[in-house]
Amino acid sequence: LIHPVILCGGGGTRLWPRSRPDLPKPFLPLLGERSLFQQTLDRVQDTTIFAGATVVAGTGHMALIRAQADAALGLGLIAEPMGRNTAPAIALAAHLLPADAVMLVCPSDHYIADTDAFVAAAQSGATLARDGFLVSLGITADRPETGYGYIKRGEPAGAGYRVDRFVEKPDSDTARKFLADGSYSWNGGIFLFTASRFLEELTQHRPAMARQIEIAVQQGETTDGIFRPDEKAFAAIEGDSIDYAVMEPTGRAAMVPVSMGWSDIGNWQALAEARGGASRGPHDLIDAGNIVVDSDGPRVSVVGLDNLIVVVDGNEVLVTTPEGAQKVGKLPGAQGT
Ligand code: GDD
Ligand code: MG
Repeated sequence: LIHPVILCGGGGTRLWPRSRPDLPKPFLPLLGERSLFQQTLDRVQDTTIFAGATVVAGTGHMALIRAQADAALGLGLIAEPMGRNTAPAIALAAHLLPADAVMLVCPSDHYIADTDAFVAAAQSGATLARDGFLVSLGITADRPETGYGYIKRGEPAGAGYRVDRFVEKPDSDTARKFLADGSYSWNGGIFLFTASRFLEELTQHRPAMARQIEIAVQQGETTDGIFRPDEKAFAAIEGDSIDYAVMEPTGRAAMVPVSMGWSDIGNWQALAEARGGASRGPHDLIDAGNIVVDSDGPRVSVVGLDNLIVVVDGNEVLVTTPEGAQKVGKLPGAQGT
């Protein structure tokens, strides 16, 4: 069986005002009726392929996760006292799972249209993971996005390829070169490896972090069905992402290319695209083109303006453009002030 590990950590500040600290992006029904987190659980419900999922999230979100995961079987919960980025979050799960467990690390805040393609790619990746590779699902790159990691395909290996290079968040010149080159895909942020392989690689490339996590786990405890690493020991970890800590430095990276209608819904423009440009909530438009409205009540009326995104949530209103959407996270409101 494949062991799903679902990460719920990011704030999703660029989707403010809909996404807020107490109800961030993964827990919102942004596309369809189920939240992105629930859809992530739904994708790994086939018990002939997947074991019960392990969810790693902040202490403050445990109740929300339990409420949203109602039907999920054999859910494991790990509560982080504070965020230390993805490498420590994944390491916690790796310590709690059997050493030979094949982990499928999934972000909780992505949209995937084609579940069958996702499951097939996960199964291909699991085979490579059992052979000792650290596998990333590779998404076809179609623009020089600087917010993603890039993976350069090497020799064929199993149902995928070895990775020649893994470059996390390149600058825009580099991203343009990668796109023109044709042998690079985006890192989808979905990874497969055995628990023991991940911990070995982390120990090799980030020994201090690996040791500190071990201490936090040894001194941790399970209360009310939730594993809690020791707060002091966990706080002392120097956090980093899996991308920088393990995927860039490892010599054992592999990738499985997959076409599954993936979007990380990074901002309102990406969400608008994933919704096919459809608006939500009451709105009237006159002489207004390419307008996306998302209102939880008040009617939004636009006359004589093009290319706008208007979001209404309670007493907050956001007006931006497709280009401006990337910067929404910098607003005082999104920062919680
Ligand atoms: N539990 C937990 N704890 N989860 C976390 C933490 C943490 O401290 N930090 C981040 N996460 C979760 C986020 O909620 C998200 O689901 C996932 O881990 C990835 O973190 P992001 O912060 O969204 O990473 P990113 O978007 O900058 O970059 C990653 O994803 C891209 C694709 O969306 C990288 O893997 C890139 O290489 C990749 O292209
Ligand atoms: Mg992300």
